[in-house]
Amino acid sequence: MATFIVLLGPPGAGKGTQAKILAEKTKLAHVSSGDLFRENFKKQTELGRLAQSYMDKGELVPDDVTIKMIKDRLTQPDCQAGAILDGFPRTPAQADALEIMLADFNGQVDLVPYITASEETLVERIGGRWTCRAQGHIYHQTFSPPKQAGVCDLDGSELYQREDDKAETVRNRIRVYFEQTMPLVEYYRKAGKLIEIDGMQNVEKITERLLDALNKK
Ligand code: AP5
Ligand code: MG
Repeated sequence: MATFIVLLGPPGAGKGTQAKILAEKTKLAHVSSGDLFRENFKKQTELGRLAQSYMDKGELVPDDVTIKMIKDRLTQPDCQAGAILDGFPRTPAQADALEIMLADFNGQVDLVPYITASEETLVERIGGRWTCRAQGHIYHQTFSPPKQAGVCDLDGSELYQREDDKAETVRNRIRVYFEQTMPLVEYYRKAGKLIEIDGMQNVEKITERLLDALNKK
């Protein structure tokens, strides 16, 4: 049976950072809704342009298009053994849709690590983040700087700061998270799938805790 892990947590908690490490270690696919929207925008698809109009304001992209995009992604061959979902679901309607689509793939949500951090830390992390243009590798100017400023260690591509990482947009993303995504914490807690992870620790400690929880499952 396939394994599906949902990484839950506010903007800047470290979902993308941990999802990339876990995907490497577990060989599960990394499925990031934010990355998929950004790739679509780069290719100037209709979906990408629509998504960008919401992302620029720090608002959520409508459920119907988001759900369809994830469903398409999960049908790709690299998701056959399962996936680490990063940034999806983000609303109760998305969580319900995920249950239904995973049942079609003979799977279910197995584990929901919920990574928490103080608002001050989130703002500090997002403010110093640099993202790789080619594949979305993640750096921080203080906490995990690249060897050469502005260049990705892994693929040599340019590093950039995300348009939605401006201070005012970040504040709105955090507000939207509390209003629309927080209900999922209770949803998954009630389902017995939630594990809380203190995101204030360093990257390695958090990975250790995540792998430990996964091994116990
Ligand atoms: P998305 O791209 O998912 O952004 P997000 O949820 O706001 O989260 P971030 O990517 O900002 O943070 P992260 O938790 O991944 O942290 P990271 O690992 O990068 O979504 C963007 C937009 O797309 C949304 O606003 C919305 O418009 C749209 N969207 C996406 N999904 C959607 C959905 N399902 N429905 C509707 N709309 C959707 O780390 C942050 C920084 O901290 C990095 O610099 C990193 O190096 C550093 N760092 C990480 N961990 C640590 C640590 N332990 N210690 C020190 N530094 C650390
Ligand atoms: Mg991310």
